[in-house]
Amino acid sequence: MSASTASWSSVPLAPPDSIFKLSAAYKADDYPQKVNLGVGAYRDDNNKPWVLPVVKKATGLLLNDPSLDHEYLPITGLPEFTSAAAKLILGAESAAIREGRTVSVQTISGTGANHLGALFLSRFYNWNGPKQIYLSDPTWANHYAIFKNVGIEPINYPYYDAKTIGLNFNGFLSSLDSAPEGSVFLLHACAHNPTGVDPTSEQWEKLADAIMKRNHFAFFDCAYQGFASGDLDRDASAVRYFEQRGVPMLVCQSFAKNAGLYGERVGCLHVVGATKDAADRVKSQLSVLQRSEISNPPSHGARLVSLILTDASLFEEWKRDIQTMAQRIISMRKELHRLLTEELHTPGNWDHIVNQIGMFSFTGINPAQCEELVKGAHVYLTGNGRISMAGLNTHNIRYFAESLDKVVRGGM
Ligand SMILES: Cc1ncc(COP(=O)(O)O)c(C=O)c1O
Repeated sequence: MSASTASWSSVPLAPPDSIFKLSAAYKADDYPQKVNLGVGAYRDDNNKPWVLPVVKKATGLLLNDPSLDHEYLPITGLPEFTSAAAKLILGAESAAIREGRTVSVQTISGTGANHLGALFLSRFYNWNGPKQIYLSDPTWANHYAIFKNVGIEPINYPYYDAKTIGLNFNGFLSSLDSAPEGSVFLLHACAHNPTGVDPTSEQWEKLADAIMKRNHFAFFDCAYQGFASGDLDRDASAVRYFEQRGVPMLVCQSFAKNAGLYGERVGCLHVVGATKDAADRVKSQLSVLQRSEISNPPSHGARLVSLILTDASLFEEWKRDIQTMAQRIISMRKELHRLLTEELHTPGNWDHIVNQIGMFSFTGINPAQCEELVKGAHVYLTGNGRISMAGLNTHNIRYFAESLDKVVRGGM
């Protein structure tokens, strides 16, 4: 290696990740009323991270289990976890599971599932032309990097309609109709990030028709099961419907948000095959890819989730914990809407605040207004106007509503 190579002088400086940069700026700010609406992590009414009571209970059970060891897991992960995770998203009655057509591999949370799914497609999908993935406009920013990393070019399909602050359904449909046959479309299973705008069940049916007609492939990303409606089954309905229709698909699943296990990195990739033989082949190749990247996934978080999913009383308790989080978010939506419309009479229509679902809301304000909120009011949010509803609580919501009101009226 030459001296110049070893000095790394030719390595370009990469910009910091925008969400983590925002969090660092919030942390460094000593303004007492500062508000962090940037990061997509649940906070309780006192703005504190919330360890789910069911997770505390499961942790106690695990630690007191005399048979617990720290051996390697199999390459594809903890079998009890992967099979319970598959049932959670595809449904206990899933024909694909019953017929052995599903491959489930434990991954490094949802990001790892997206990566492994992308890598697998990059190597083995039957590409008719250039390797491309259709992403909703907008989408989770990391999707771009994840697909580019494995040589798949991201392109956008219309999704968000700024005029209605809702779904551009016709644009979405016509993009499915005009994309080359066999294209790969990334679909947010529920609680779309960053807009909080999801298709209705009738719209999902039409989307499935269009996908089937053109032989497209559905790459589902499910990072918020339970967070959209508070109901795990309801939030899985699009994925389950597509599986029942026989749409070729895979599903990336994360337990970061719905189990509050952000740092434990618990996730799963499910690939649904046409036959058991196809699933076995897919599993063999996913194992080869996983081996070269992480050898075997981490065990602790997967053991916790597996306990929660397979013990009837822990599972019921988890559902109640999910309700607690979802209901707090829904109550913040209602209160923000009430403050803006009934108390402050903020110009504009704010119904989208209560119509959107999940952790995020697209406020509809422009980048200059976002900057003004950050600089003038110490309210931290991304430049696209997205706010994490989980960052609002009974103590800061009035301050936020008043700050937003001032910005919308033309200045702090
Ligand atoms: C749409 C979407 N997909 C995947 C993820 C992955 O999250 P994690 O890797 O923490 O499970 C996120 C997290 O913000 C997300 O919003």
